[in-house]
Amino acid sequence: MKDKQASFAEGASRDLRAPLHVGVIMDGNGRWAAQRGLPRFEGHRRGVEALRRTVRAAADFGVRYLTVYSFSSENWSRPPAEITELMGLLKFFIRSDLRTLEQEGVRVRVIGDRDNLKADIVALLDEAEARTRHNSKLDLIVAFNYGSRQEIVAAARDLAREVAAGKISPDDIDETLFASRLGTRFAPDPDLIIRTSGEMRLSNFLMWQSAYSELVFLPIYWPDFDRQAFQAALETFRARERRFGGVLESEKPKVMTAS
Ligand code: FPP
Repeated sequence: MKDKQASFAEGASRDLRAPLHVGVIMDGNGRWAAQRGLPRFEGHRRGVEALRRTVRAAADFGVRYLTVYSFSSENWSRPPAEITELMGLLKFFIRSDLRTLEQEGVRVRVIGDRDNLKADIVALLDEAEARTRHNSKLDLIVAFNYGSRQEIVAAARDLAREVAAGKISPDDIDETLFASRLGTRFAPDPDLIIRTSGEMRLSNFLMWQSAYSELVFLPIYWPDFDRQAFQAALETFRARERRFGGVLESEKPKVMTAS
């Protein structure tokens, strides 16, 4: 992060109406590049810059958890050269920004499957988590090689093993226990999920966790996402009435009392 002047600490006053947890589906890098006659890689490279801006803005806006969808389990079906580029960008991002993240109070957490990642990537992810584990201003949760269905299946498998081993009974399994076996076990459910590029779907991102999330779809490509767009999404969020399956106080029928 080059622009040290606009330090995360500057905007430290937490807006109590800010969502605690924001998820972001960073979509549209390829289309952003195609629109400009540039290679897709250029779109991803500019996507990293947008990610930097977003981390800084999230900290300034008082968001406590930011989850970014960086590489989905389904992204392996892309051409090998693009996969190599995306892996390279992750390495570049961690190598170039880890020190700043560390100094600015950001805790890096990585969710997703590490089994089929190369050893050097796993080592970098481990290093990023270890070096920032004492930080508590903002958790940057990088969903890398992540798929929500895979995460849910893994949780079910873990619980099945615990039942088979006699550690728990099937009746012990409830929503809280289930959520405690997900990659996001340390974070509250996202209040808000933002997706850029105009597509309106979750694409296997935080499907368990988003049961009551507000969804905001923006008609801009990810490389164009900036502080202003983030602010606008937060304002849309604030204007929404969250009911969590209930009714608002003001909508409850009035009980007539004798006077
Ligand atoms: C979607 O654009 C974006 C991705 C698949 C990857 C997101 C990656 C970054 C923002 C940069 C890399 C950051 C890290 C930390 C690895 P798309 O390629 O699907 O765009 P399209 O739908 O227009 O083709």
